[in-house]
Amino acid sequence: MIFRKCSGLRGQVTVPGDKSISHRGVMLGSLAKGTTRIHNFLQGADCLSTISCFRAMGIPITIQGSTVQVEGRGLRGLQAPDQVLDCGNSGTTTRLISGILAAQEFSSTLTGDPSIRRRPMKRIMTPLSQMGARIESLSGNDCAPLKITGGPLQGIHYQSPVASAQVKSAILLAGLYAQGETRVTEPTLSRNHSELMMKAFGADVRTQGTTAILQPARELYGQEIVVPGDISSAAFFLAAALMIPGSELLVRNVGTNPTRDGILHVLRAMGADLTVTGERSQGGEPAGDILVRSSSLQGTVVEGAIIPTLIDELPVIAALACFADGQTVIRDAAELKVKESNRIQVMVQGLSAMGADVEETPDGMVIRGGRPLHGAVIDSHLDHRIAMTFAVAGCAAEGETRILGADCVNISYPEFYQELKRLAGN
Ligand code: S3P
Repeated sequence: MIFRKCSGLRGQVTVPGDKSISHRGVMLGSLAKGTTRIHNFLQGADCLSTISCFRAMGIPITIQGSTVQVEGRGLRGLQAPDQVLDCGNSGTTTRLISGILAAQEFSSTLTGDPSIRRRPMKRIMTPLSQMGARIESLSGNDCAPLKITGGPLQGIHYQSPVASAQVKSAILLAGLYAQGETRVTEPTLSRNHSELMMKAFGADVRTQGTTAILQPARELYGQEIVVPGDISSAAFFLAAALMIPGSELLVRNVGTNPTRDGILHVLRAMGADLTVTGERSQGGEPAGDILVRSSSLQGTVVEGAIIPTLIDELPVIAALACFADGQTVIRDAAELKVKESNRIQVMVQGLSAMGADVEETPDGMVIRGGRPLHGAVIDSHLDHRIAMTFAVAGCAAEGETRILGADCVNISYPEFYQELKRLAGN
């Protein structure tokens, strides 16, 4: 797919539902008693992988427009799948479902695409094994395919070495079934959608600092869930409007949960003209509309506790930093290396190809902004956030940018290119 410099993005856009919240709605809805309806569900490939895994375990799930209806069978209502569970490209599906499977009375095998089969699973195998499950990496490399033999679980207090909501959520989902209390302490707080939604479904879960504390559940109950727009998808339009002169955009209904809104803090620190209005909250998940205008930006430092709150936005923040005066340093972000692609390496390669002054570091990158970018051929490595980042950079750069493997945006934002084109007025 080819992108050329455009003369500003103008108008309004409503981004699709939050990916993390959509996954959790299907999972908790499947484990609850009664009907769960998930409105504004993200129909990206990742969330559809979660649906197909739960259908394979006997849960009736229907999709009508943007609403997904899940007929939950209760905590003990899953059936043994008669096939290998395919998690596709989705780390969230793979890791969270492992926590649920760890507690079932049947054994199961899960796998995914080549990217999933390279991503580290030891981080969930270790705590879930400590709780009493048996998890085997069938290739012997601590990656999927995983064979999970569930059984009676014991609550643990897990000190997670990484701030990862996928790890935390896997343990908490297993903890619903465990004997005794389950605690997960993280180095810094990761997104808390599981905790908020478990509470809404009737679980006894609370947070103390960076520790989530869960009591075993007797039953969960079906809910009506309204999913706010995904701030990780909104990020591409916010960055695009900031880097393309003459832009003014209203991005509507964006989730602004404080464990996810790090990008707004970074953009403001860079000098962005950005206003959040109409703030509201549903099921503990805040949302608002974000008005953004192209701005002259300064470099910044992105590090420490803010990192988990913007982890998926770092690629587009790195691209934006090329349009800022001075230096931007991203550190404490080694987790980027184990996402859908090695996002440090892939970003540095791609931005360098476009003429940026960018340097890879062990846990991030250093970008010296102010050099004009020019078009280049960019390999997405089939990573949706890389494809969208370079689409946006391509709309701000001189000349022509060609993205290989551009279709992977269907993972989290199938309509992304149409919307970008519409806002660019062509
Ligand atoms: C997610 C958590 C994050 C994030 C991913 C979605 C989730 O991953 O990068 O896109 O829904 O829990 P980690 O838990 O690996 O940080």
